[in-house]
Amino acid sequence: MKKKLAALLAMSLVATGALAGCGGNSDTQEDTTAQTQQNDAADANTAEGGTLRMGTNATFPPYETVDDSNNVVGIDPDIAQAVADKLGMKLEIINMEFDSLIPALSADQIDIAFAGMTVDPERAEQVDFTISYATGIQAIIVPEDSTIATVDDLKDKKVGVQTGTTGDMYCTDDLGEDHVQRFESGVVATQALVNGQIDAVVIDNEPAKAYVEANQGLKILDTEYTVEDYAAAVKKGNTELLDKVNKAMEELKADGTLDEIIANYIHE
Ligand code: ARG
Repeated sequence: MKKKLAALLAMSLVATGALAGCGGNSDTQEDTTAQTQQNDAADANTAEGGTLRMGTNATFPPYETVDDSNNVVGIDPDIAQAVADKLGMKLEIINMEFDSLIPALSADQIDIAFAGMTVDPERAEQVDFTISYATGIQAIIVPEDSTIATVDDLKDKKVGVQTGTTGDMYCTDDLGEDHVQRFESGVVATQALVNGQIDAVVIDNEPAKAYVEANQGLKILDTEYTVEDYAAAVKKGNTELLDKVNKAMEELKADGTLDEIIANYIHE
């Protein structure tokens, strides 16, 4: 398992490089630069100042998605903004592959990852997690007429996951490499399910609901794969930022802001 994760991380390092050099992302890169420059100018006027560079993967509604104006919106950007406000910092959002987030933290390309990221002991060897702000459940999406009804029924099937997610880790461990197909996002994995290329998708329950709503003929199984805690992550050893963010998050938790932000997007 450790080896597998290390391989994944190594792969994603390459992906980070590819992302920076990829023409398709040049707009985002330019936007980011422009935003940073503005922020630098503004920083001169703020007492504490500084820019909090948040990395995320905006394919994961309602935690983060891209709106019609190409802005990254959702629970994580809102929480990060509230944290940045408390710290007197500007927030800059950098959208990247999910499995590039941890390498980007290590390489100082971002300061914090806010991405519905599950607290996991192996990840905790690479990054430091903040306090948890939400929980997620690994859900199983199948076609409405599927014979898959339980987790056990996934055996011998082809399951789609987002690369580097906990869904990927569990399915790879439980079903074996041959039964897992990795996609750049849950959106693309769900598309493959609709097209009949795979038998199920394992992904966190809230985005799963959004994907099922956006497509026809899919359902989420009642069975829950695992329950997980979400937290933000900073570079391993960056205790200065970790402490500041944790303090801000504790305050936002205590005064009800965190619950309020989540309730704006998730209506139970
Ligand atoms: N909670 C899962 C994990 O940590 C999935 C997170 C995916 N997040 C995203 N923004 N695409 O692995």
